Amino acid sequence: MEPARSNQANQLTTPEENDHEEEILTGLRKNQKTISPKWFYDTEGSALFERITQQPEYYPTRTEIDILRDNRAAIAAACGVGCVMIEPGAGNCEKARLLFDAIRPTAYVPLDISATFLQAAADEVAAQFPWLRVHPVCADFTRDWSFVDDLPAGRRIVFYPGSTIGNLEPAAATDFLRRVRGLVGADGGLLLGVDLHKDRDILNAAYNDAAGITAQFNINLLSHLNRALDADFHPQHFEHSAFYNADEQRIEMHLVSTKDHSVRCLDEDIHFAQGETLHTENSYKYSPESLNALATSAGFQVASSWFDEQQLFSVHYLVCAP
Ligand SMILES: C[S@@+](CC[C@H](N)C(=O)[O-])C[C@H]1O[C@@H](n2cnc3c(N)ncnc32)[C@H](O)[C@@H]1O
Repeated sequence: MEPARSNQANQLTTPEENDHEEEILTGLRKNQKTISPKWFYDTEGSALFERITQQPEYYPTRTEIDILRDNRAAIAAACGVGCVMIEPGAGNCEKARLLFDAIRPTAYVPLDISATFLQAAADEVAAQFPWLRVHPVCADFTRDWSFVDDLPAGRRIVFYPGSTIGNLEPAAATDFLRRVRGLVGADGGLLLGVDLHKDRDILNAAYNDAAGITAQFNINLLSHLNRALDADFHPQHFEHSAFYNADEQRIEMHLVSTKDHSVRCLDEDIHFAQGETLHTENSYKYSPESLNALATSAGFQVASSWFDEQQLFSVHYLVCAP
């Protein structure tokens, strides 16, 4: 007889090295310099994000967790049991763990760009849920969907919490949801966590925590670029800035250059004037109506919605529109 073995997550499948150079340089050459927020997430950045979620000002994570915990039976009834659950941007997989006993997926596919952090989270999930097949995938979901060819068989539910959808520009959010719709098909669905409009003071405080963890997270992006691309950004010459842009209905995060200086990145000299910013993230906020419009634009319809008492955050179950 074989000795009993504890459950283990699959070893990560990692993507082929993508060519990011053109994407990065295009952003750095603009008048308003920009970079994708995916560059926040190396192992250090993922750990800093986890610490952000524990800050008292950062309401989204604890509010979404409360919504999921309070409504898990109804969520399981909406999603149905026995699916393959795919989570893009899974991070520490904390929210999915709350649902497993209710939803009883046949397999869980956490997908993230931050490989080492993902493997550790997947291993923990496998140890905690010995009956669950855990199939982690390291991929950039803005570029590479080849993981779809290698998914465990079964009806598919995509779980996309954390208002990560809010990091995408509205047109890119529609494109992303269209892809998800193709992935889950007519018998699947999308469980989506979305941050809501609210008083700007609550929003500004959430992205400017007193302990300075969001500032560290923002500045770590430069250290990540230095490590990954052999660039020479000087983190000490930048400051964190985050504010609510009411016209665009989004929080913007920037890194503000505190002096005139140049950095070398991908064989190019990039000049920063004093006060000039590198725009690192948008976090769009939605209303139930604008979320409904986004779902419709992607061929989904909202089947069920759950909110906290203060209507700070929301979770929605979307199915393919007929
Ligand atoms: C805002 S955090 C949310 C984490 C977790 N889902 C939650 O709700 O707390 C975004 C997550 O998406 C991952 N991520 C960001 N951009 C990504 C990309 N382009 N491809 C894959 N994962 C990405 C990050 O590594 C991070 O774990």
